[in-house]
Amino acid sequence: MATAPAPVTKALEAPAKPNEKNAFMETFEIISEDIVQDLGNYKVPKEGVEHIKRMLHYTVPGGKLNRGLTVPSALKSLFKRDLTKDELFKAQVLGWGVEWLQAFFLITDDIMDGSITRRGQPCWYKQPDIGMIAINDAIICESAIYRLLKKYFRAEAYYPELVEMFHEVTYQTELGQMMDLLTAPEDHVDLSKFSPQKHAYIVEYKTAYYSFYLPIALAMRLAAITDEKAYAQAKAVLLPLGEYFQVQDDYLDCYGSPEVIGKVGTDIEDNKCGWLIIQALERATVEQRQLLDANYGQKSPENVAIVKRIYEQLHLETVYREYEDRSYKRISELIEQIDESLLPRDIFVTFMNR
Ligand code: IPE
Ligand code: MN
Ligand code: MN
Repeated sequence: MATAPAPVTKALEAPAKPNEKNAFMETFEIISEDIVQDLGNYKVPKEGVEHIKRMLHYTVPGGKLNRGLTVPSALKSLFKRDLTKDELFKAQVLGWGVEWLQAFFLITDDIMDGSITRRGQPCWYKQPDIGMIAINDAIICESAIYRLLKKYFRAEAYYPELVEMFHEVTYQTELGQMMDLLTAPEDHVDLSKFSPQKHAYIVEYKTAYYSFYLPIALAMRLAAITDEKAYAQAKAVLLPLGEYFQVQDDYLDCYGSPEVIGKVGTDIEDNKCGWLIIQALERATVEQRQLLDANYGQKSPENVAIVKRIYEQLHLETVYREYEDRSYKRISELIEQIDESLLPRDIFVTFMNR
């Protein structure tokens, strides 16, 4: 693949331009302050106000912000010009809506997955004075999205559609999380319940809709695109892109270094139906399969090491590189199939370049 373009992996991990990110962060300060001010309408005592301030700053902005930044950058591509101040601000608010939604999912995901770190710091629920308060904090993050939508979009004709888009994608993500958890019971390991089809469902629902489809769909809605066919075309590219991204996440759960990915992988211990175990099951000999059955989904490092050794024997790193190349080609082809009269192709290229 000497002549192939840079793999999507690198593109997705590329940092956003610093000035875009700074402007986006300034908007975070404005709208998190909106949420804090709004607490006055609910007579929230001082300690509650301080808690929400601290919680929002800890859980919302610490990531790469690629999902959120995609809304203004896609809107710019759709308009094919620079945004006005008002258009930029609105796009940033919706971008933060996606990041707020992500905070809601990640806070609860870390509790359910028993994770320790996230974005290079302890998970929110791991803060000594937080614990299970984090569950309600996550729910507050979700509700805050709708307070922001109301404050900034109530007067727009498309306000109900925005609300519906967030609701729809939230539900899809919750269904994905449900299947992720149901295929991974803690007390009963049964690898025969795993299948590539189940894995495909999980990654599409738990990741692709909210991380890839939602930011672009929000920008399309701001650009006054109403043709359902345009949204279907966007989905046709963005769901495979999301699958690709989550497969990478599954791969890095095992092979990424914690300093780089900002979290410690727990998929093997957690009995997760991830991409690596699916590949291993397709390739394992009878002996290797017995070892996987006996060691997958167990908390002790010895068990995890045995599973990782089988992954090595099956050359899953190479299998992943091949998957990466195939996906890149497939997604590029899907982008080429986009009808430019419905949607400019470069919104996807810009997204991939992030
Ligand atoms: C999380 O999936 C998906 C959502 C938060 C909706 P994972 O459990 O695989 O993600 P990480 O590895 O904890 O980030
Ligand atoms: Mn997780
Ligand atoms: Mn999870």
